[in-house]
Amino acid sequence: MAQTTARPGQTRDPNPVWRWIDERLGLHDLAYPVPAHANSVLYTLGGITLFGIIVLIATGVYLTQFYHPAPTEARQSVEYIITTARLGDFFRSLHFWMANLVMITLLLHALRVFVTGAYRAPRELNWIVGVGLFGVFMGLVFTGTVLKWDQEGWEALQHNEEIGKLLGGAGTWFTPEFTVSTPILQRLFIAHVAILPLLLLSLVVAHFFLIKHHGVASLPGHEEGRAPGHTDAKDAIEHEGYVPFTNHLLHIAGWGLLLTALASLLALLVSAPLGAVIDPGEEKTKPLWMFLPLYPFEDWIGIKALLWLPIAGFAGLAAVPFIDRFSSSSLRTRWVFVAAAVVVIAALVSLSIYAQVSTPGQHVPGMVGG
Ligand code: HEM
Repeated sequence: MAQTTARPGQTRDPNPVWRWIDERLGLHDLAYPVPAHANSVLYTLGGITLFGIIVLIATGVYLTQFYHPAPTEARQSVEYIITTARLGDFFRSLHFWMANLVMITLLLHALRVFVTGAYRAPRELNWIVGVGLFGVFMGLVFTGTVLKWDQEGWEALQHNEEIGKLLGGAGTWFTPEFTVSTPILQRLFIAHVAILPLLLLSLVVAHFFLIKHHGVASLPGHEEGRAPGHTDAKDAIEHEGYVPFTNHLLHIAGWGLLLTALASLLALLVSAPLGAVIDPGEEKTKPLWMFLPLYPFEDWIGIKALLWLPIAGFAGLAAVPFIDRFSSSSLRTRWVFVAAAVVVIAALVSLSIYAQVSTPGQHVPGMVGG
């Protein structure tokens, strides 16, 4: 078992520089105990996601030095990043690949929370904060796609505007009609580099505050036999031992660096795509993989599916902790939930495959299918 931590004012670190810093910043307070299972990779996925987000912010700040959000300049500035800016192609590709990998770690993290029933009381609201994080991250991927200002970005923007129109007055912000003073590309750029990141970071702060408040959830099914008045996190520490949170942070950093190495390798092998020059009258591209399950519904129901299905999906996700009323988080008790997740994932994968093999159709009024 790990050693207990020093109390404030009792730092006895032999290194005088570290002692000086610690006495002023109280860093040893970060070594509070967390259950030993927090260091397993399944329980580190949230931290790895945050590490990836930090890399996305750093590479995004670099790209912003060269990107020009005016419609007449945007594509040329992306070409400048690829061909001329120092390490521009690498950092652009790292940004692209990391966005894909973070989407994967975020989904796996949410799946772990779902399967282990860690959204149950008292963590329902933190699940809802997580659903918000998922939505904001999707928004970042979507606006990032438009910024490329290639055919795919242009078509994404047309969909954005059509969805805005479906929302009536409330959707005006998503259309160029909102203002004649600033092109919509520039407003989506501001959303991508300021509004959505601020929202994301505020939600991350709320998420982490609640994790600290409740402690990391115990392993599924461990609520049976809990000592009266104990939280599951406290019980888990008593039963399985603990690691200092600083040690957990080191684990996260190790996995985060590995993720960054993978994204860098992908960036070196495959550059982030920049599609054809915009042909404003034609629809011929398909969205990135995380939006693909929606694509067939556009064919079957029309563009309104892109508004109502995500709303229904996010509302359904947010409702999960209030539907699961089982007394235990054990997988044996909640097998019906896990089976439902398997069915939903299989449906999403099948829809994506179908979307991938189908021919791009016409969905936006005024544009023709490719
Ligand atoms: C930007 C995205 C996110 C970040 C950085 C993040 C980070 C974290 C971290 C570090 C933890 C501690 C345990 C662990 O790492 O597994 C955690 C727990 C949790 N997360 Fe997230 N998360 C994100 C997205 C989500 C999403 C999309 C959901 C659900 C839809 C979610 C729901 C929860 C819940 C309910 C907990 C508490 C469960 C427990 O204590 O085991 N999170 N999150």
